[in-house]
Amino acid sequence: MDLKKAGFSTKAIHAGEIKEETGSVTTPIYQTAPFRFRDAAHAVRLMSGQEQGYVYSRGLNPTTKVLEDRIACLEGGEAALAQASGMAAISAAVFAVIKAGDHIIADEVVYGSTYDFFVDLKNLGVKVSFVDTSDPGNIETAFRQNTRLVFFETPANPTLKLTDIKAVSDIAHENGAIVMVDNTFMTPYFQQPLMLGADVVLHSATKYLNGHGDTVGGIMIGPSGFIKRTRHTSKNLGGAISPFNSWLILRGLKTLSVRMDRHNENAIEVAEFLQEHGMVDKVIYPGLENHPQYELARKQMRGSGGMVAFSLKRAEDVPVFLDALRLCTLAVSLGETDTLIQHPATMTHAVVPREKRIEYGITDELVRISVGMEDVSDIIEDLAQALESI
Ligand SMILES: Cc1ncc(COP(=O)(O)O)c(C=O)c1O
Repeated sequence: MDLKKAGFSTKAIHAGEIKEETGSVTTPIYQTAPFRFRDAAHAVRLMSGQEQGYVYSRGLNPTTKVLEDRIACLEGGEAALAQASGMAAISAAVFAVIKAGDHIIADEVVYGSTYDFFVDLKNLGVKVSFVDTSDPGNIETAFRQNTRLVFFETPANPTLKLTDIKAVSDIAHENGAIVMVDNTFMTPYFQQPLMLGADVVLHSATKYLNGHGDTVGGIMIGPSGFIKRTRHTSKNLGGAISPFNSWLILRGLKTLSVRMDRHNENAIEVAEFLQEHGMVDKVIYPGLENHPQYELARKQMRGSGGMVAFSLKRAEDVPVFLDALRLCTLAVSLGETDTLIQHPATMTHAVVPREKRIEYGITDELVRISVGMEDVSDIIEDLAQALESI
């Protein structure tokens, strides 16, 4: 069967799988650091690139290769490179394309460590302009002669604002820059940035791709030439993913579509409940008609995802509310079976200076929920009793 023409779930279960000699139905975990050369001449051919093959798991591993091929297929990209974490993937991808003197345009609302990584690039002579990419006009204005890269998340963590992938990719390409989109919140099940014109897609595979909160991993998908170059960069940076973690993500991927549907269904109900609650000031969820970019959501996403953000009326109520929760877990991370809830201002985005945070909409009153797969009535009951405790 030509898997390229198969449905999403079929690809998520079968793309890239290897038929190895024992007949193992699941992908084996090749838990090895080096691979034996057949002889000295074989070693020379592999090391010089005349022949492709496995040498050392920091560069390439068969279990990880199945993961890479599967995700490349799901995102509709030519190739992929898995890394030890989402941040390892982001940093390797960025380091593969920039050099001292280059300029980057990044959305002002990105995951805290991504923001921090971009801020630190000034130490290497790379200037990053943080702009609100939800307005493509801001990108046009921010372009300089030396702009090499445009980077954003959509929906953005944690404010769930959207960026028009096609509009921004068109502007970036007219100006000779490449576009990287962090697709962690949507996964390829709900959004495929490469199909909308982006050049590279990034994921924290720690989140929905793995889906069970039991491993850390990252992956990038893009043109073969870019992935080849980045594989070289990443081999030197050293952020290889372990074969066991690749295997856990492969296992998680098999149920991605059913999990995403459940997260989505539960999140809509949670968002609607919060919207009606008197203690809640504002709810942000791309599946609510009052989301400021509801039309764009319908245009570029096939679902709304499992992430909901909301503001309480007073910042001092946030810790009271969080401490009163009994089912929802107070923890960072997202995209797993369990409902996780956190306060971006003091947790995932604590690294962003307060005045910038407030300017970007990451206020002290904002709470982020990763709506899990429990029975939604239980999630809502827990949120209700914690809101009543304020
Ligand atoms: C949108 C997004 N991108 C990247 C990352 C970084 O991923 P990791 O924690 O796997 O390094 C995160 C982590 O929360 C994230 O939320």
